[in-house]
Amino acid sequence: MNDKSIIIREKHSRLLRYSHWINFSLLSIMVWSGILIYWANDAYIKIPNSIAETFSIRFRLAEGMGWHFFIMWAFLFNGLIYVNYMIISGEWRTIAPNRKTFYEVIPVILHELKIKKSGPVTIGKFNAAQRLAYTGAILMGLGSVLTGIAIYKPVTLGWLTNLLGGYKAARFEHFLLMIGFFLFFIVHIIQVARAGWNNFRAMLAGYEIEKD
Ligand code: HEM
Repeated sequence: MNDKSIIIREKHSRLLRYSHWINFSLLSIMVWSGILIYWANDAYIKIPNSIAETFSIRFRLAEGMGWHFFIMWAFLFNGLIYVNYMIISGEWRTIAPNRKTFYEVIPVILHELKIKKSGPVTIGKFNAAQRLAYTGAILMGLGSVLTGIAIYKPVTLGWLTNLLGGYKAARFEHFLLMIGFFLFFIVHIIQVARAGWNNFRAMLAGYEIEKD
């Protein structure tokens, strides 16, 4: 194959890539420090002592809080930059679900699971399942911030805490969102691995190579 049959196309802008990887790093710290806070005592799920000791996640409440309440500002700031960029650049159209998304999401999933051979025809940056998953991830980010500040300042922001069902409910919602991120992450990584190097490189370098 000669050079003429290779097309190099920009896929993800610099700001999008930076905010994606910064988000991943910050979210990892948020999940880790959140775990230190939750399991300063057994909150919802009792972790076997052996696991808690192996990962050294007990009795580190102050450390967990210190990291969590510091990094949350960076997480919020990075999220705002990304969302603003998506709105201003018009790129929100590439990930926001549209009417077709809801018709296509089941066929896309069946195709991805190899249950159906032919997939939906819509071509764009992202398919229906990706649109829902990525928009969902952004909404989960917003949800984490809102439930987080509701349990951070339950008196000052009492109206928000009440809106979310009270302190206990908001705390549980915050925990569920962490589980949601974890599930998103597992599927995201499997799909990225399946999509291959060309797709992954585009999130690192910005470009993908298309063979004509
Ligand atoms: C090691 C961890 C991760 C890897 C390797 C990874 C990789 C990727 C890749 C390759 C894409 C482009 C997908 C495509 O073009 O089809 C992507 C997009 C995306 N990822 Fe990740 N990701 C990771 C972690 C995360 C995390 C933790 C989140 C958020 C919770 C996240 C949210 C997103 C979103 C929202 C997009 C769409 C970006 C856009 O175009 O606006 N990723 N990721």
